[in-house]
Amino acid sequence: MIPSPDEKRALYREAAGKLRALWTGEPDGIARMAAAACVLHEALPHYFWTGFYRVVGGELVIGPYQGTPGCSRIRWGRGVCGTAWATGETQVVPDVHAFPGHIACDGRSESEIVVPVRDQRGVIVAVFDVDSTEKAAFDEVDRVELEEILASFAKSPDVLG
Ligand code: SME
Repeated sequence: MIPSPDEKRALYREAAGKLRALWTGEPDGIARMAAAACVLHEALPHYFWTGFYRVVGGELVIGPYQGTPGCSRIRWGRGVCGTAWATGETQVVPDVHAFPGHIACDGRSESEIVVPVRDQRGVIVAVFDVDSTEKAAFDEVDRVELEEILASFAKSPDVLG
């Protein structure tokens, strides 16, 4: 089920409140990612796979996630995740089958959004990836709300070095 734009906004705002509480006093990046994957996956009914790929040793390595088993490593510029990392821009993909080089970890995925996650200096340290089993599940509301939530990911000192 894909929520209406107003429903999405309300669900993201509620999830953001829960995340603020969970992130407060928790500077560890992995713990913060685990909280975000869990809270957002539970909150948004159009989410099927929800999680992070971290920049480790020059490639993306899977981090905390919810859903079916994800691919463990993705190279720079490859797939939707590698493209978000390489361009520094959120990727909203209404039909994954039409995205050149899309990496299919679960054949049920039909649409996807990937948002870069930056540290306090603005360096991309991870990407946040969400897949849906429905086509065109993600839009500007998802992009704006997720970018806002993830912009506060590294606001506390000591997060991700
Ligand atoms: N579809 C992604 C790969 C990660 S999975 O969706 C969990 C991509 O093309 O980068």
